[in-house]
Amino acid sequence: MNRRNFLNWVGAGWIATCLPIAIAACSSKETTQNAPDQKWQKIGSSNELNANGKLLAKNTPVGEVLVVKTSQQNDLVAVNPKCTHAGCTVEWKSDTNKFVCPCHGSEFSVDGKVQAAPATAPLKTYAVKIDGDAVLIQ
Ligand code: FES
Repeated sequence: MNRRNFLNWVGAGWIATCLPIAIAACSSKETTQNAPDQKWQKIGSSNELNANGKLLAKNTPVGEVLVVKTSQQNDLVAVNPKCTHAGCTVEWKSDTNKFVCPCHGSEFSVDGKVQAAPATAPLKTYAVKIDGDAVLIQ
């Protein structure tokens, strides 16, 4: 075997070794993007949301979710309504566009960030949309 044949043989072996690893790495990334928890999930009907301006769904796959309309343009926000201070359920105050906790007065902005203590951690938020009669979160 001369030097040229040896290098070709080593190169082909290296490609044969690395190609399956590269394919596996790409495949696992695609699987992560399509994980079930990333799919839109129905948590209620738009009729209930329209009637009350809010929708509280207690038994969703991600736990309790509160969806509120934040403006006349029907902007929607979805949060986990459990206050991060001690777990009371926050209420939406449309006049001030804030979530307010009735237990100790913590306040959260429309994007869940803390605006008034004693809570120090934000509310968890979800993407939300209406599809036909369904309210969906992600
Ligand atoms: S439980 Fe909400 S402020 Fe204490």
